[in-house]
Amino acid sequence: MTTAPKQKLRLGVNIDHVATLRNARGGGHPSPLQAARVAAVAGADGITAHLREDRRHIRDLDIGHLKEEISLPLNLEMAATDEMVKVALSCLPHACCLVPERREELTTEGGLNAAGQIAHLTPRIATLVEAGIRVSLFIDPDPNQLRAVHQMGAPVVELHTGTYCDAAEDRRDDELRRIEDAAAIAGELELECHAGHGLSFDTVAPVAAIPNVVELNIGHFLVGEAVFLGLENAIGKMRQCMDAARVGAAP
Ligand code: PXP
Repeated sequence: MTTAPKQKLRLGVNIDHVATLRNARGGGHPSPLQAARVAAVAGADGITAHLREDRRHIRDLDIGHLKEEISLPLNLEMAATDEMVKVALSCLPHACCLVPERREELTTEGGLNAAGQIAHLTPRIATLVEAGIRVSLFIDPDPNQLRAVHQMGAPVVELHTGTYCDAAEDRRDDELRRIEDAAAIAGELELECHAGHGLSFDTVAPVAAIPNVVELNIGHFLVGEAVFLGLENAIGKMRQCMDAARVGAAP
């Protein structure tokens, strides 16, 4: 199995739930744009936002503002629909992460079934790649899904860490192993490997220590923890946990 030498681990801060809070009262506070500015100061390497079909948190205007006013790379999470491809082509984010989306779900539940949607995904991936957007697919840590991503020509995968994070203690090591194995296969297939979903101060270190993983996308926990620590401190502490795990030190 191929493992790359450890590169710096990037942190993409997902600001969706700043918008969730804003939308609860229908006004402009708290502002996702302001959160992105704070994230940049706190050491984020990118901003991630999921524009859902139902616009339950991030809205089209947010994407425009983030693209225009934030210098960090923008990673637009989206379903692989024609509507979203159109949005991506009009705002040209640095990256697009294709995710499964079901209206009734509370959050992205499970990875994209890439292997089962080759005909649907391939032309949409090609359109985004041709526009210069770095395309990733959010998948479960499953070798078949990795091979499908490779076959379709996307340069990046994001491994779903939610099952690992939610696992009972006696199952967690097995779930971590699946992520480690998948990251090694991504290396063999020369796919850039990201990971995310459900990560917290308690669960981030073993994922951050996987050499092939070069980016983590983290949102809900950071926005929740901001209630107690402030957003800048929460992101700073996450950065410390990630960096310490990367060099094999205790945080
Ligand atoms: N990566 C992807 C593809 C996601 O859909 C999400 C949730 O929007 C995340 C990462 C971040 O997950 P969480 O908010 O649980 O940190």
